[in-house]
Amino acid sequence: MAIESREDIMNILEGITYPGFSRNIVSFGMVGDVTIENGSVQIELKISSSDENKKQQVVQEVRDAIKQEGVSDVSISLVDPVESGSSQSIGGPGGGQAAQQGAGDPWADHHAIPNVNHVIAVASGKGGVGKSTVAANLAASLKEQGHTVGLLDLDIYGPSLPTLFGITDQPYLTQDERIAPLEKYGLKLMSFGNILGDDSPVIWRGPMVAKMVDQFLNGIDWKALDYLILDLPPGTGDVQLTLVQKIEITGAVIVTTPQELALQDVKKGANMFRKVDSKVLGIIENMSYFKCPHCGEDTDVFSRGGGEKESHRLEVPLLGRIPLQTEVMEASDRGKPIVLSEPESAAAEAFNNIAQNLAEQIR
Ligand SMILES: Nc1ncnc2c1ncn2[C@@H]1O[C@H](COP(=O)(O)OP(=O)(O)OP(=O)(O)O)[C@@H](O)[C@H]1O
Ligand SMILES: [Mg+2]
Repeated sequence: MAIESREDIMNILEGITYPGFSRNIVSFGMVGDVTIENGSVQIELKISSSDENKKQQVVQEVRDAIKQEGVSDVSISLVDPVESGSSQSIGGPGGGQAAQQGAGDPWADHHAIPNVNHVIAVASGKGGVGKSTVAANLAASLKEQGHTVGLLDLDIYGPSLPTLFGITDQPYLTQDERIAPLEKYGLKLMSFGNILGDDSPVIWRGPMVAKMVDQFLNGIDWKALDYLILDLPPGTGDVQLTLVQKIEITGAVIVTTPQELALQDVKKGANMFRKVDSKVLGIIENMSYFKCPHCGEDTDVFSRGGGEKESHRLEVPLLGRIPLQTEVMEASDRGKPIVLSEPESAAAEAFNNIAQNLAEQIR
């Protein structure tokens, strides 16, 4: 086919999808100016992504596709619509308006998430204490109590939501090019895992993580929500910092296990929210005691009282204690949180009480 017009170019480029998405780069609005002159073709690509590899992959694919049509002189320029100040929103993986960051003062565009009543961060300074399990079950409990609930997994390094809900689909983009959340068990769900896939190594640091999180926090079309639960990665790194700088959250709940060793890290997590004047709504003590499936007896595996101690220190309520139960882990691994799969269990009861306490605390 002879290339004669912009339309010819667009037809060819419609065959190229943005890496990790099923939509093509034309529909994302990534193709800017096109010039065809004396048998040479110049194409401007507007991609605002922190992932240099993806940009280069698109450039290469565009070049190859045009060359395949017999054009040997192809030049491609990349512009960042955010940095260049273009008002065009390309949404999706490139970000567009969602990625606009206040230059200089990182707190400059601190704002609420539109149409979301309460944003609750589930956090802890420590890894593996059950943040993701708690976030998923809290979301499910609040939904069972009649609220409209979304769950956003912000763990860019080790997303859990795809496993916890058995959902690996990729999201599609709405007409105004925002990410439509996935839905399961009546909850709205989104995770970096659903965008990045299982095996993409996460090598981003500092500013790239901040940009990605910012886009994610702003680029999802939740419609109206009573509660948005955020599952945070462990620690007090870039994700947490971006969150508190950019988004007005209702507050954080801090998850801990009862033993002293866990509490040291948990203190750091709670202190971070305090320092930036975000409310700590309460402490949740997970794996508080072992519920024996045979005799029904409770055993304090990790000693006792840690959550209570921390709640006194912070002068916030202990929202509840969750037993260590094999069924909690099994339910998570099967992709249906225990609150939904075994609502009569001791753990589900604990989660339901915590959700109620949390809702009351917010009121
Ligand atoms: N109450 C519980 N009873 C039994 N198993 C639990 C309980 N809470 C969490 N687990 C299990 O412990 C493991 C760690 O939990 P989870 O992934 O929720 O922790 P996390 O704090 O989110 O970890 P990370 O810091 O890696 O994000 C998982 O296998 C989970 O199923
Ligand atoms: Mg987690």
